[in-house]
Amino acid sequence: MLDFAIFAVTFVIILVGAVLYLYPSSRRASGIPGLNPADEKDGNLQDIVNKGSLHEFLVGLHQEFGPVASFWFGGRPVVSLGAVDQLKQHINPNRTTDSFETMLKSLLGYQSGTGGGATETMMRKKMYESAMDNSLKSNFPLVLKLVEELVGKWESFPEGQHTPLCAHMLGLAMKTVTRLALGQRFHDDAKVIGFRKNHDAIWSEIGKGYLDGSLERSASRKGQYDTALSDMEALLLSVIRETRSQRERGTFVDTLLQSSLTERQVMEDSMVFTLAGCVITANLCVWAVHFLSTSEEVQDKLYQELDEVLGSEPVTLEKIPQLRYCQQVLSETVRTAKLTPLAARLQEVEGKVDRHIIPKETLVIYAMGVVLQDANTWSSPYRFDPDRFEEEAARKSFSLLGFSGNQACPELRFAYAVATVLLGALVRRLRLKRLEGQVMEVKSELVATPKDDTWVTVGRRS
Ligand code: HEM
Repeated sequence: MLDFAIFAVTFVIILVGAVLYLYPSSRRASGIPGLNPADEKDGNLQDIVNKGSLHEFLVGLHQEFGPVASFWFGGRPVVSLGAVDQLKQHINPNRTTDSFETMLKSLLGYQSGTGGGATETMMRKKMYESAMDNSLKSNFPLVLKLVEELVGKWESFPEGQHTPLCAHMLGLAMKTVTRLALGQRFHDDAKVIGFRKNHDAIWSEIGKGYLDGSLERSASRKGQYDTALSDMEALLLSVIRETRSQRERGTFVDTLLQSSLTERQVMEDSMVFTLAGCVITANLCVWAVHFLSTSEEVQDKLYQELDEVLGSEPVTLEKIPQLRYCQQVLSETVRTAKLTPLAARLQEVEGKVDRHIIPKETLVIYAMGVVLQDANTWSSPYRFDPDRFEEEAARKSFSLLGFSGNQACPELRFAYAVATVLLGALVRRLRLKRLEGQVMEVKSELVATPKDDTWVTVGRRS
């Protein structure tokens, strides 16, 4: 509980830190319905702690005050938007960066891409996305092979064997992301394990304990974090130099090296991609397999689509858009799991949502977890029901939120591609069953991660 409470507070601090990293602060009150500060210095921090998580706090806030509601972070007013209609009025269609990217870069101490002007930011965004797309395109057979290894292993398990999902999915995500981003040298599993050690050490401090000073106060934790970060940076720099000298083609690093970015910028983007890519991909796959294991009907429908579109051929990048039901399953996974429950922006110029004025420089939270389970937008919001995305209105709301379509978060697009290959292979060969009696508690709010490993059993599809 204490861990959770610290996390809830830290998360707000990080969000604020991330947006303030870009902009200076202001302290004007918003005049929007909401909570008064419970404490002059801490604002409503204690209320957040009492609720156990920022997401739970926001659920209560919006229940009480409606879709546009305010609270106080320390002496600073915060406005939260908790419904699609209100978010629609606020989301800037030209948004080029998200709070997670900004937050990751600020936590890692990286300036590049955010300090430059709009043109440079746009150029960096384009480079990043094309490096990601390129790595997928050039290495798609490798993704198929890595998935095949995993599914082959599951096939060899005796019927009913308990299989720990998080461990397997993290393994798959780490292998895929390192190979696609960094290339051949991660052919060796021992290298992936070394990478994972540093990845875990860095990620476990991100979203927890960093900006509340607890990391700084613990010399041993700080030492481990610094060592992991500098080891990872050294590794990435050596990969960059090797890629350049050996002309290894088609990786994320290779595409970035062909641009005008400096070596340092290539290293930073590779760090962000490998850190975030592993986490989003692993957790999307965990939740998708988990929800599938709860419904034979969904597995059968997916099987049928795969059969119709692919016959006995493997998934290809070109065929993915034709797998519409598979995309519905993944969208419904993101929605039901609230995979990324929070986002934030700093109000750049004075704005208006409904009749409410949002003053310049107010921190605006997008309460995605609230929006994704708002009964006015989604009927039976807690039910896993991929069919709801048959409706155009549901698809439109989802893409407006940044979870699908051209405006989707690039990290998520990458994760969708890997998850599609995985589901394509799993569902055609195996039957997934969930283990009764498991409670899926969520550990982190940056990307919803199960607190403990979760188990499925697999059997052959007859
Ligand atoms: C754990 C990491 C991440 C999470 C949980 C995450 C989540 C999200 C979410 C929820 C959105 C839609 C809401 C919004 O616009 O804020 C979004 C959009 C976006 N994300 Fe991410 N993201 C992550 C990492 C990244 C990274 C590393 C990058 C790029 C370097 C990135 C680039 C973007 C961009 C550019 C958009 C806006 C899409 C557009 O409108 O063009 N994200 N992300």
